[in-house]
Amino acid sequence: MSTDISRYTITAALPYANGPVHIGHLAGCYLPSDIYARYLRKNDKELIFVCGTDEHGAAINMKAQSEGAQPREIVDRYHDIIRNSLDQVGISFDIFSRTSKEIHHKTAQDFFKTLYDKGSLEEKVTQQYYDEEAGQFLADRFIMGECPNCHFGEAYGDQCENCGTSLSSTELINPKSRLSGSAPVLKETKHWFLPLDHLSGKIKDYIQSHKNWKPNVYGQCMSWLDAGDGLQARSMTRDLDWGIPVPLDDAEGKVLYVWFDAPIGYISATKELKGEAWTDWWTKDDTKMVHFIGKDNIVFHCIIFPAMLMEHGGFHLADEVPANEFLNLEGKKISTSRNWAVWLHEYLEDFPGQEDVLRYVLTATAPESKDNDFTWNDFQTRNNSELVAILGNFVNRVQVLMQKYYEGEVPQPSTLSDTDQAALKEIEEAPALIGESLEKYRFREALSRMMNVARLGNKYLADQEPWKVIKNDPERAATILYVATQICAQLSQMMEPFMPFSAEKLRTNLGLESLGWNDCAKQEFLAPGMIVKAGGHLFTKVEDEVINAQKEKLEASNTAEAEPSYEALKGEIQFEDFLKLDLRVGTITKAEKVKKADKLLHLEVDLGFEKRSIVSGIAQHFDLEDLPGQKVSVVVNLAPRKLRGVLSQGMILMAEDSEGNLKFTATPEDMPNGSVIR
Ligand code: MF3
Ligand code: ZN
Repeated sequence: MSTDISRYTITAALPYANGPVHIGHLAGCYLPSDIYARYLRKNDKELIFVCGTDEHGAAINMKAQSEGAQPREIVDRYHDIIRNSLDQVGISFDIFSRTSKEIHHKTAQDFFKTLYDKGSLEEKVTQQYYDEEAGQFLADRFIMGECPNCHFGEAYGDQCENCGTSLSSTELINPKSRLSGSAPVLKETKHWFLPLDHLSGKIKDYIQSHKNWKPNVYGQCMSWLDAGDGLQARSMTRDLDWGIPVPLDDAEGKVLYVWFDAPIGYISATKELKGEAWTDWWTKDDTKMVHFIGKDNIVFHCIIFPAMLMEHGGFHLADEVPANEFLNLEGKKISTSRNWAVWLHEYLEDFPGQEDVLRYVLTATAPESKDNDFTWNDFQTRNNSELVAILGNFVNRVQVLMQKYYEGEVPQPSTLSDTDQAALKEIEEAPALIGESLEKYRFREALSRMMNVARLGNKYLADQEPWKVIKNDPERAATILYVATQICAQLSQMMEPFMPFSAEKLRTNLGLESLGWNDCAKQEFLAPGMIVKAGGHLFTKVEDEVINAQKEKLEASNTAEAEPSYEALKGEIQFEDFLKLDLRVGTITKAEKVKKADKLLHLEVDLGFEKRSIVSGIAQHFDLEDLPGQKVSVVVNLAPRKLRGVLSQGMILMAEDSEGNLKFTATPEDMPNGSVIR
C-alpha cells in the first residue's frame, strides 16, 4: 500500500460516438479528470491522461438505424465533434483515440483469446430475446422494459440508467423490441460468459481493500456484491453485425460485448501513445490507476473490468474510481432522446472565449456526492457575482492601479503590517490547502479554496484603500500594491487547473511562467522592479438577454414533452388484503443520515401513541433540516427490519413520478398524530 508512486494512469470514460457530449458528461468526468491531470503535471508527476470514443455496441447501431445511416458514418461524425469540443474546452488528453482502430481490435481480441485459452470463459447456449420481424437478436439497448429493481419503465437490456443496476435482458419486465416495437420471443444462441459468480470472492476482497473510495462508489459496489443472489455470470459476446469479431472459429456473426472491449480501449490507447512501454502504465504496482467516470459506469469499472484483468493476470487494478453522480438541467434529468441538454459544441459556439466560465460553473456545481442541478440563472449568478465581481474585479483593479501609479513596475515594499503579513502567509499556504482537496478528488472544495485567494485579495484592497492612502502616504500605498500584486500572481498559478485559459492570460500579463505547484508555496512571485502589463478584463458580465435566449432555446428544442411512462399495474387484491394495512398519521421529529448509505435516512416519527425509528430511502431528495415537522402517512404494521444495521419500524408513503422525483403524500396538517388512515 505504501509503495511510492512513480507514474499515474488517468482515464476518462470513453464517450459513445453516437451523439455529441453535453454538460453532464463534462461535469461527470471530463472536467474533474482534466483538473486532476493538470494539477499533477504542475506537480511534475509522470502521467498519461487517456480517452477516446467508444464506437461499438448497440448504442451506435440504434443511432445508425434511426437515421438510416451506416454505423461507420455515425462514429466518424461524432468522433470528430466530440474530439473538437473537448479539445476546445481545454480537456488536455495525452491521447484521444477510437475503439474502431486496428490496434484496439487486436488488443481486445488478444485479451479475449487469452481468457478463452485459460479456460476463464464459460461457453453456454442460452435463450436470448429475438425480434422476429427484424430478424435480429436483441442485445442490450435493442430492448427496453421495466427495471426489476426500481421499476423505472425505460430500462435497457443491459442496464437501468435510473438506478444504475446492471441487468441482463431476460430480467426486464414487459420487454419490448426497440427495432419493431413488438414483444420479442426467446431463441437459443451460444455465448461466452465471464463467471462473475465464481469470482465474487476475489472481487469482494479487491473492493474491500478500497474502503477509502467515495461512499457512493464503495456503497454501490458492496450492494451489488451483497445482493440477494450475488453476482451473475455475464455474457462477453453478442449477436450483432457491428463490433469486434469474436476471435474463435465457431463464432460467426458474433462480436465482443461493448463493455468487454471499451475499457480495454484505455489499454489500446496507451499502446498507441507509449508503444512497448505501455506495460509500465498497466502492470506495475508503483503506477497509480485512476478511472474518472459517471455513476452509471461504476459496476463496469469496479467489478467487471477488474474481474477481466484479474482473470487475464499481470495487470495492476484501479486504485481510485472517483465517480460522480448525475447533473440535472433546470430541475430535470438530462435526456438525449428528448433533447433536454446543453450540448458542449453549441455552448462553445454561443459563448466564444468563455470556455473557462463553463469550466468554473460546472466544477462549482459538480455532482460529487449527490445529483446536482445546472440552471442558466445559476450560471449567470456565478459568472457575474463570482468570476466578474470577485476574481475579475480584483485582478483588474490591481493591474489598473499598478499602471496608474507605477507604470507597471512592481514597487518596493516598506515595513509590512500584520495584515500584509497575514495576507502573504495565506497565499503561501494556498497550494497545500488547494492541493489537499484535489488529492482527495474534492474539486468543488478545491475551487472554492482557490476563490478564497481572490476573496482575500478583494477584501485586502477594499480595507487598505490604496487609492486614498496614496495621497498622504505613498510609501504605504506602494507596500499595499506590492502585496496585492503577489496575491494576483498566486491566483494566476492556482487558477491553472480549473481555468487554464484565463490563468494563462493573467500569467502572461504578469510576465510569469507557469511554476511547479510546490514552488508556488511562497510569498514573493514578483520582485520589486519587475514589470507587469496592463491587462484587460478576464471575465465579462452575462446579460439577462443571453440567459433568456438560452432558456428559450432549451425549451424550444425539447422534443416530445416527455410522454410520462407509467409503472406497470399490479394484480388485483381483495378488500381484506387492503384491511391488513395499518396506516397512521405521524410527524417526523428527527432526521439524520445513515452512515455509508447515500440513499438512506434514519428518521424518528411521532405517531402519538409512540415514537418510532424508520429508515427511508429518500436521502437524495430532501435536505435534512427541512424534514423535522413534516406530516407523513405511515404504514405501522410492517414487520420491523434492519437496514444497514439500523432498525426500521414502518414505512412512509411517498409519491414518485416517472422520472424518479419523490414527494411525501399529502397528510392533513391538522390531524393529530396516530389518526387512522383508511
Ligand atoms: N461509453 C460508455 C458510456 O458512455 C463509457 C465507456 S467507459 C469504458 O457510458 F471504460 F468502457 F471505456
Ligand atoms: Zn432501475
